[in-house]
Amino acid sequence: MRAATWNQAGGKAWGGYRLVAVLELTNISKHFGAIQAVNDVSLSIEPGQVVGLMGDNGAGKSTLVKMIAGNFHASHGTMRMDGKELILNKPAEARQHGIEIVHQDLALCNNLTAAANVYLGRELRRGVGPFRILDYAAMYKRAGQLFAELKSETRPRDLVKQMSGGQRQAVAIARTMLSQAKIVLMDEPTAAISVRQVAEVLNLIRHLRDQGIAVVLISHRMPDVFDVADRVIVMRRGRKVADKTIASSSPEEVTGLITGAIEQVS
Ligand SMILES: Nc1ncnc2c1ncn2[C@@H]1O[C@H](COP(=O)(O)OP(=O)(O)OP(=O)(O)O)[C@@H](O)[C@H]1O
Ligand SMILES: [Mg+2]
Repeated sequence: MRAATWNQAGGKAWGGYRLVAVLELTNISKHFGAIQAVNDVSLSIEPGQVVGLMGDNGAGKSTLVKMIAGNFHASHGTMRMDGKELILNKPAEARQHGIEIVHQDLALCNNLTAAANVYLGRELRRGVGPFRILDYAAMYKRAGQLFAELKSETRPRDLVKQMSGGQRQAVAIARTMLSQAKIVLMDEPTAAISVRQVAEVLNLIRHLRDQGIAVVLISHRMPDVFDVADRVIVMRRGRKVADKTIASSSPEEVTGLITGAIEQVS
């Protein structure tokens, strides 16, 4: 629905054609020994769509997005991106395909600066041939612009170990804004931050959506999902128990699906 708006705004005429899903999972499962963390999940996400992924602790949400981000191999099932099968052996390969993730634990290096964390693994260099050196000035400058865009008070030269939870969040999110992502996976981005910063993160999600980027937002916060998402997917004990448009659901229904008071809806 919003993807169509984006296509019109972006001047790309799709006419009446259905958009190819940016990401399609078919019968994806993941077990850790005897634990079935994700069980036979199929879903598809279109460009510019914001999908809220909800479920109780241990429902399998993080495991699902980690498979999409190349952290885990699926035990079964297939993933497709833009219609082509996607086989990922490591997170760097997911990034090359335009898949970015903000992990639940943020996965930052505490002993490095904010800017160094933003550019970790994709540092800018200048010069030619054997004289190529890291371009710190450019990285500090760009990181500063990203923090300003996020309305974060984080400074590029600050050390991550001295930062608050919200500032760390901004660093992790700024990482996803560096490249031309097609899909951004956010694992609990608003769990540990201030009210003002929650609003900024939700604005950032809208900003990504308006550029045609698909966003998967894992959250326990019902107001956030109902505020920003187009669709909500509920997982319970590894299974997908609902996949609905926000307009056709309600916080009460989603709560029932999370707890199991409502078994499943189609
Ligand atoms: N690396 C791992 N090794 C073994 N078991 C794991 C691993 N990661 C997750 N699990 C198990 O898989 C199940 C799903 O975990 P997952 O982290 O995906 O849940 P979640 O929905 O993200 O929960 P939360 O809301 O608490 O973050 C849990 O039973 C968990 O203990
Ligand atoms: Mg999790």
